[in-house]
Amino acid sequence: MKSLRTIDLKDKKVLVRCDLDVVDDNGEIKEHFRLSSSIKTLNYILEQGGFAYICGHIGKTQEPNEKFSTKKLVSFFDKKLINRNFEILENLRFDQREEENDENFAKELAEGKDLYVNESFATSHRSHASITKITKYLPSFLGFHFEDEIENLNYVLKDPKRPLTVIIGGAKIESKKPTIEKFLNTADFILVGGKLMFEESLKNNAKIIMASDDIDGMDIGPKSVEEFQKYIFESKTVFWSGPLGKVEDENYRNGSIQIADLISKSGTYSVVGGGDTLAFLEKNNLIDKFSFVSVGGSALLEYLSSGELVGLTAVLNSNG
Ligand code: 3PG
Repeated sequence: MKSLRTIDLKDKKVLVRCDLDVVDDNGEIKEHFRLSSSIKTLNYILEQGGFAYICGHIGKTQEPNEKFSTKKLVSFFDKKLINRNFEILENLRFDQREEENDENFAKELAEGKDLYVNESFATSHRSHASITKITKYLPSFLGFHFEDEIENLNYVLKDPKRPLTVIIGGAKIESKKPTIEKFLNTADFILVGGKLMFEESLKNNAKIIMASDDIDGMDIGPKSVEEFQKYIFESKTVFWSGPLGKVEDENYRNGSIQIADLISKSGTYSVVGGGDTLAFLEKNNLIDKFSFVSVGGSALLEYLSSGELVGLTAVLNSNG
């Protein structure tokens, strides 16, 4: 697969699919880390003399409205990009053809562009027009952050320095089950917190270490933190996804904050991700404590359990 770095970008018009789904229900920008993840790719395109058409979605398919318009992101990109050779296309999900993976919508997006770059790891589990169909119409490449995602996740999945400890939290067993099953084959230890610590189906497995105490059933307790610390300090690689308590309530975020601190202190190579985890880390200024932070929510879980994403396959199979 050719890297974007091998392409002459001078005067090229580049459609860059980014992770712009960073706005909360009140229309406020809440996830700067996700938004920032495309800056390196975008500035590279501008530096090389190209023009970037930034595109992406906010929320689900809906009638056009100001709250979820990508226009509110213009000032962010204005500040972060090295020049004004860019344009931000309107929220792709203001047109239902995006989620329908519509041929004509993809053609319209491709019109007047020379290249396509997928810098939207977090949406690449969706077969939507700007993620998969578009690769039929433009030579296609991965963005630099997307490449880093794959490199880091493949490291954890395929060739980690051992011991590999995986920490899984969160509330819903259905969404985490395939990931846990995958790691039962590859990880040395799986530490479980969050609501999952009460999940009967995870008990009695030699690899799985359930949190052994809790605070009001809403967070892992001090004994669990101490126990988890032993595994984290012994490990050469740590992967973490899913908050270990009800972190939206400040009374129950202590366990997750302590685990973030311990991972950082251990100096172990650490990869962390997941929608709620990312929101928690960003809110508590903990992003810098890890070797790599994934921007993916469902996409991350899908890549971990299957090793594939439709958006990645589409770019790899394109004629770029
Ligand atoms: C996400 O938030 O995980 C991505 O933006 C994908 O959004 P979706 O679940 O609405 O497709």
